[in-house]
Amino acid sequence: TDTPVAGTKRVLLAAPRGYCAGVDRAVIAVEKALEHYGSPVYVRKQIVHNIHVVSELEKKGAVFVDEVDEVPEGATVVFSAHGVSPAVVQSAALRGLHAIDATCPLVTKVHREAVRFSRDDFEILLIGHAGHEEVEGTAGEAPDHITLVNSPEDVPNITVKDPDKVVWLSQTTLSVDETMETVRRLRERFPNLQDPPSDDICYATQNRQVAIKKVARDSDLVIVVGSANSSNSVRLVEVALEHGAKAAYRVDYASEVRQEWLDGVQTVGVTSGASVPEELVQELLDDLADAGYGDVQQVKTAEEDLIFSLPKELRRDVAGRQ
Ligand code: F3S
Repeated sequence: TDTPVAGTKRVLLAAPRGYCAGVDRAVIAVEKALEHYGSPVYVRKQIVHNIHVVSELEKKGAVFVDEVDEVPEGATVVFSAHGVSPAVVQSAALRGLHAIDATCPLVTKVHREAVRFSRDDFEILLIGHAGHEEVEGTAGEAPDHITLVNSPEDVPNITVKDPDKVVWLSQTTLSVDETMETVRRLRERFPNLQDPPSDDICYATQNRQVAIKKVARDSDLVIVVGSANSSNSVRLVEVALEHGAKAAYRVDYASEVRQEWLDGVQTVGVTSGASVPEELVQELLDDLADAGYGDVQQVKTAEEDLIFSLPKELRRDVAGRQ
C-alpha cells in the first residue's frame, strides 16, 4: 500500500463491508410484509443485530418481541435472520401464527448439517458464543447431540462419549483465525474429528475480515460501524487490533466518535458489519471529511454479488394477491 506523504490525513475504506445477502433479504422481508399484510407485523427478536435498522422498521410498524407468546394469536410473525429452533417454529404453529422465516439460508445450511450429523449419531461440537440467538437456534435442532465450544480455552474441558464420532460445526459470524485455533486444539484431543461438509463461517464474515486485515496494517485507528450485539461487527474490531491497527473502536453512529481518538492519527480505517446500512458509513465519512480526512481510498479484497430470494411464505402470499 502507498505510504502517505507525511502530514496527509486519509481514510482507508474496507470493501466488502456492510450488508450481506442474508441481512438484505431479512430487512426487505419485513418491509414487504408490512406492505402486504399492513402493520403491525411482529418480528421475533431483532431482525438483524443493528439498532438503527430496528428503529427504522419500528417507525414503519414492525413490533419486535422476544418470544412468540407475545404475539397475538393469528397474527403474522417474522423469524429473524439468525434462525430459530424447531421448538420456536412449533410454538408459533400452536398459536396459529402466520410465520415468515427470514433465517439466512447460510444459517439454515448449518441447521441441516446439525440434523444430519445427529441422525448419524455424531456428537457435534458447535463452536460459537453461548447465548447468541443463532447458536440457540442451531443447538435446538439436536439438543442431545450438541456441545457448545465457546473459545479455544474451552477445549480442555470438553468431554465426548465416542472420540471417533465427533464433528465440529460453527456459528456463521466468528473470527476465522480464532475458530481455526479452536479446531486445531479440538483435533489434538480428538484426532478423528470430522470437518463440516463446507465452511460454516459465511462468505460475508470471511470477506469483511480479510478486508479489514489489509486496512488495519496501514491504519493508526480503525472505526467499525456496527451494534454491540452484532457478532461479526465485534469480531472486526478484534481482527483489526490483531492485524496492526494501533486502536480500534466500534460505533453505532458517527456521533459517537470521540475527538481524542483522532489525536495524532494520519490514517483512519473504516468498515462496517454485515447488518449495517451504508448510510451510517456515509455519515461517518462526512464527519471524518470535516475533521480533515477527506481523502478516501477504497481497499477492496473481494467482489460480492450474492442475492437470496425472499422467504417462500412471503413470495407465495405476495404472488397470490395479483
Ligand atoms: Fe447470512 Fe452471513 Fe449475513 S450467515 S445473515 S450472510 S452474516
